[in-house]
Amino acid sequence: SSNFKEPASGTHPQYIPPWTEPYIIGVAGTSGSGKTSVAKHIVKAINQPWTVVLSLDNFYKVLTPEQHVLAEHALYDLDSPTALDFDLMLRCIGDLKTGKPTQLPVYDFCTHSRTEKTTTIYGASVIVVEGLLALHHRQLLDLMDTKVFVDTDLDICMARRVKRDMIERGRDLKGILDQWDRHVKPNTIQYVIPSSKNADLILPRSTDNKIALDMIIRHINNQLEQKSLVHLQRLQELGQITNEG
Ligand code: C5P
Repeated sequence: SSNFKEPASGTHPQYIPPWTEPYIIGVAGTSGSGKTSVAKHIVKAINQPWTVVLSLDNFYKVLTPEQHVLAEHALYDLDSPTALDFDLMLRCIGDLKTGKPTQLPVYDFCTHSRTEKTTTIYGASVIVVEGLLALHHRQLLDLMDTKVFVDTDLDICMARRVKRDMIERGRDLKGILDQWDRHVKPNTIQYVIPSSKNADLILPRSTDNKIALDMIIRHINNQLEQKSLVHLQRLQELGQITNEG
């Protein structure tokens, strides 16, 4: 038998969809701070179906040919908030919040360009938004349930970035160091570090900090449990499901 009740004739109960809106976690921090590892750890530890990671790295704006030439010589500022397409990210999250599938852009760091490909996400119950400026944009912050700032020493961040950019992003040492001095460090000081004041939790030493990570996971698990209880209760109150079954 169906567990959906027909509304009594003449009444128009407010419809609540059978799924809850996604729970949204923000993870921000300097380039090379270990935020991707923190995001992966959260996904694994909460172990919920329909968890997606939205990386701000996918949302770099498409460059004009002139900007592209500058970027190839590490002369284009890719660390200012204006380099990112926040509107597109808000649209993607908006789709998932309303239960619709969405298309995520795919970015290629070797060619500084948005690829032809997209990744389709059919739905999400938990979204981890990860990126340098994940805690910068007001509209994005307003959507988040828990906000974490990963706080790692800047010299460690720089060493990690040099290694990663040479191995994974096809860059040379001189370009990496020039870009760091010219754009990365000044924007880190101007935008990324100040955005830590928007965090609920500051996580020193990234995934090395087992105690803090454990506390974050417990908090998220508690909130997820609470959220599904409240949702179930509302559905029951509105008669959309019965107590049995
Ligand atoms: O993964 P992570 O947070 O380090 O990625 C952000 C960094 O990627 C920014 O600091 C920006 O300088 C760099 N970036 C780049 N080339 C691009 C786009 C972003 O080096 N085409």
